[in-house]
Amino acid sequence: MFRGRDVLSILDFSASELEHLFRKASTIRQGNGLRGKILATAFFEPSTRTRLSFETAMLKLGGSVIGFGGEEATSLAKGENLADTIRMLDAYADAIVIRHPLEGAAKLAAEVAEVPVINGGDGKQHHPTQAMVDLYTIRKEMGRIEGLRVALVGDLRYGRAATSFLYGLCKFGVEKLFLVSPPSLRPREEVLEFLRSSGVEHELTEDLGRVVGEVEVMYVTRIQKERFPDPSEFEKVKGSYKLTVELAERMKEGAIILHPLPKVDEIELGVDENEHARYFQQAAYAVPVRMALLSLILKGG
Ligand code: NCD
Repeated sequence: MFRGRDVLSILDFSASELEHLFRKASTIRQGNGLRGKILATAFFEPSTRTRLSFETAMLKLGGSVIGFGGEEATSLAKGENLADTIRMLDAYADAIVIRHPLEGAAKLAAEVAEVPVINGGDGKQHHPTQAMVDLYTIRKEMGRIEGLRVALVGDLRYGRAATSFLYGLCKFGVEKLFLVSPPSLRPREEVLEFLRSSGVEHELTEDLGRVVGEVEVMYVTRIQKERFPDPSEFEKVKGSYKLTVELAERMKEGAIILHPLPKVDEIELGVDENEHARYFQQAAYAVPVRMALLSLILKGG
């Protein structure tokens, strides 16, 4: 069901396929299942967790990794086009993870490459493997996704992690979504249209204080400064929301705080020690989820 597949959008995967992935992630162990296989990482944008957790996952399964971060170090700096770069990686590796500032770059790479292409984030559009990690974290920490009330907080307009997470949640019968952001950072019209047609109950609000006590999951995101077409628009919204210790203390018992990371100033430092915080655990789950994904794509099962 996964073997040889491209991973371009979370929308391409059914709930039962994602359940299959989560079961695999729960049981996968270090081993040599991918010995002799090579993963290429082509990162044209900064990354810490996505790139390093993919590399860790591949190495733990006995495979090898080649790749680059930043186009300065590649022939793109000499004027080579993306399609030619991908063609070369296709000849060298068994799978490619690509991150790129332009929407649609992963899709283009998948059209050029014979080997499976995994989208590690394309502009503001999709970040499917982050959504897999986020949904898995909820399953592990809360035991279920169905019936939960979830708040997505922050830059819901330019944040690809938030958008992919939202699409993913809609597959699992959540009870209600609260979309908490300043008006200018609300989800884009195509995402709101998706929400309306999905039939999932949702509410757009600016009032984090009113929502904190209502939800089982609070998903906070960074303002995507680098994606603002106009820097003065960023100046208007920066610092416009913050999850403080005082707000975190008002959350329901057993509720969890997630963040795809990196966080800048949208979560007060003291929240890291709060009983609800799970974002570092979430980042750690990236390794078993990406191990499971690589194994399913390259070996099947
Ligand atoms: C996210 C991304 O790159 O979209 N980071 C990640 O992969 N964990 C979120 C962000 O950069 O804010």
